[in-house]
Amino acid sequence: MLNNMKNTLHPWVIKKIGRDWLEYVASNTMNVATEAFDPFIWTYDCKAKIVEVRQETADTKTFVLLPNQHFKQPLPGQHIELTVDIDNTGTPVARCYTLSEIQQDTVSITVKQNPDGKMSNWLHKYGREGMILDISSPRGQFVYRDQEKILFISAGSGITPCYSIYKAFETQINQPDVAFYYRSRTPDETIFRQQLEQTKNDNSVDISYSRHSEEEKTSYLPSQLIEAYPDIKERHIYLCGPEPFKNDVLSYLDDIGYDLNNLEVEHFAPLQATSQSVDSFTGEVSVLLKSKNIRFVIDAKDNDKTLLEAAEANGVQFEHGCRSGMCGTCRTNLVSGEVNGQQLGKSIYPCATYPASAELVIE
Ligand code: FES
Repeated sequence: MLNNMKNTLHPWVIKKIGRDWLEYVASNTMNVATEAFDPFIWTYDCKAKIVEVRQETADTKTFVLLPNQHFKQPLPGQHIELTVDIDNTGTPVARCYTLSEIQQDTVSITVKQNPDGKMSNWLHKYGREGMILDISSPRGQFVYRDQEKILFISAGSGITPCYSIYKAFETQINQPDVAFYYRSRTPDETIFRQQLEQTKNDNSVDISYSRHSEEEKTSYLPSQLIEAYPDIKERHIYLCGPEPFKNDVLSYLDDIGYDLNNLEVEHFAPLQATSQSVDSFTGEVSVLLKSKNIRFVIDAKDNDKTLLEAAEANGVQFEHGCRSGMCGTCRTNLVSGEVNGQQLGKSIYPCATYPASAELVIE
């Protein structure tokens, strides 16, 4: 009864009072009694309540979340980190999920059940309306940057950040020239199929099926993208999908001479980077952060540290999230010098790269 009342009241309070005021009011009335009465509002932590669960495909559900007052306004394409003590051991499991949709007061995550996925299995089994989850504020650099011509390339559950940005264009007055390529296995497994098909009339969406009957097979293989999009080299590409798919597309783009500086990639798995002794250059590496006009030196004591760790050890802070090359929060551009690790064009991820030259200039 009390929970039902709160479930009705929370959306109303957030809508009417707004998150900023609610934060002010709650922090000034925080005490043991209020915290016990309503731990969703009287808390210093960012939390979200599940307000709706939708089945998208046989193995994919969308969870519509109402975040509390500590949540910052997200950008389409960003993600949140969800933390749950799944085994009740006091060691919570954390996973990042893209916000597949951003509504006025709520956000959605769309989760494909992975047979080996601890969090996705838990969410599919136990996630229900009224449940309160620990989340982070939105993070990530996979966001629209006012480019005029865009091509989204996604596969499987990698559609979520692309769809989030694509969907947000609907409400935009000046829309960019957008093309949307999505690779799915079959029509029944296609996430947001209905929504995408509704926009197919304007020819901006191509869905390609990898396991469909030959006569019904539609659209293009990733290896035929240039036939589908002859102006592909003029388009800024947003790429997200399973690692093999992404690697195929990346090597294809490389082969056709696409400028990888115009590419945004979202990662699901930690990036692999190999460390290299900084001693092998000059004994130390001089790093200049151009935008902040900060210089620091990595020496032997910082050997084997990532760029992010070495910067921190020298009192320099990078904005960061996952620290494992997944979230894209730390992404920056390498102006000159060399690094080991994941690099796409000039883009590097300091949390997953190591210095590989004696001088580095980073944006
Ligand atoms: S990619 Fe997440 S902090 Fe670097």
